[in-house]
Amino acid sequence: MKLWGGRFTEDTDQLALAYTASIGFDVRLAEVDLEGSIVHAQMLGRTGIISPAEAEQLVAGLTALLDDLRAGRLEFSVDDEDIHMNVERLLHERIGPVAGKLHTARSRNDQVALDMHLYMRDSIGAVVAAVRGLQLALVETAEANQDVVVPGFTHLQRAQPILLSHHLLAYFWMLERDVGRFLDAAGRTNVSPLGAGALAGVTFPIDREWVQQALGFAGMYENSLDAVSDRDYLLEFLAAASIAMSHLSRLAEELILWTSEEFGWVELADAYCTGSSIMPQKKNPDVAEVVRGKTGRVYGHLLGLLTVMKGLPLAYNKDLQEDKEGVFDTLDTLLPALQLFAGMVRTLRVRRDRIANVFLHDFSNATDVADYLAGKGLPFREAHAVVGRLVLRAIESGTNLAGLPFAVYQESSPLFATDIYDRLQPLAVVNARQVRGGTGSGAVAEQLALAKRLLASTDAE
Ligand code: ARG
Repeated sequence: MKLWGGRFTEDTDQLALAYTASIGFDVRLAEVDLEGSIVHAQMLGRTGIISPAEAEQLVAGLTALLDDLRAGRLEFSVDDEDIHMNVERLLHERIGPVAGKLHTARSRNDQVALDMHLYMRDSIGAVVAAVRGLQLALVETAEANQDVVVPGFTHLQRAQPILLSHHLLAYFWMLERDVGRFLDAAGRTNVSPLGAGALAGVTFPIDREWVQQALGFAGMYENSLDAVSDRDYLLEFLAAASIAMSHLSRLAEELILWTSEEFGWVELADAYCTGSSIMPQKKNPDVAEVVRGKTGRVYGHLLGLLTVMKGLPLAYNKDLQEDKEGVFDTLDTLLPALQLFAGMVRTLRVRRDRIANVFLHDFSNATDVADYLAGKGLPFREAHAVVGRLVLRAIESGTNLAGLPFAVYQESSPLFATDIYDRLQPLAVVNARQVRGGTGSGAVAEQLALAKRLLASTDAE
């Protein structure tokens, strides 16, 4: 007999039951469901909606179920549809008919909303901690390679030399914004929907404030229809997760490029690579590739839930059950990705020998030659043209700007002196950019110090 079986005369079709049941995935909510029910039962007792003795029996039974759950001793059945009805049946088996009082002044609609709010509050905390772990790895690897100069790119064409640490720290700041988005979403997740009932509130004198405080929520929903229908907080999480995955995917792409022999800047630890079943020489950056690939499914989950929500009338509709799998899969995709990237970044080896040769055939110092002339008063646009011709000339004679004889410089502009050759060195080009946020060694050292202070100050998150 179903918990709701009173008005039914026929059994549910087996395929319909299997298709609409959610126990296969909302079993993940078992712990928070029990915790929420314990507080609900306590509130029913405190307010006199049920007797204190009955409340005690409920709480004792639920607490015992919680112990069994943690010990892996609870078994759930698809016949009970979802986690909520499974728990109620298990409670009934344990403490008898008084179990039937637990659902007083509550609906599965506000119950499932409560469960998801509790679950996501914890989960977002875990995500933020994992982001912090990757930020720390980036800071450490940037710090260990502060003197390494590499070409920076625009259009994936060499643009201007930069510090590798500057490049790595760019990801630190992307992740910093990710943390901000997750915490922002966590703030709107941390509100209690319990008391909304099915949709309209409940007829019993419940104490929503007490429940809110007992569960550690910062606030509560002020409208019962909104409380059972809102999935904004999940959309926000999925949006923040999608953006975070885009950052991981960009870093993945760069690591994949950098580890190719064509670049050869970096070698990843064996722990994060796999080999080929046919080509004995291969060492493939699988983790980075899989994270890049899995980014697609996280975007998919965001779009999936947006589409579920579109045009959905108030209040609860069973469509809303579709909020869970995508969110859970996003957590299962994002969390390990962050942890793996932290390990991968921390253990990567920078191939200084290879990087040292990168600038032998290179024009990424050209801007600085134009800046040199502009610094001596030539309008920048004219300086640009002068240097453009010098670059062309160097290409034609198979050299670079440092390889052009001084006579050629003098010929192209009387403003050149022999100190131009000092300005051409990659490190000099880098260190000419000490502007705040720039790639100069001093500016990057300040940026690094700021990043470290930031991480140290967030230990309390
Ligand atoms: N499994 C359901 C969900 O995830 C729980 C709420 C069911 N409510 C109902 N009226 N059928 O949304």
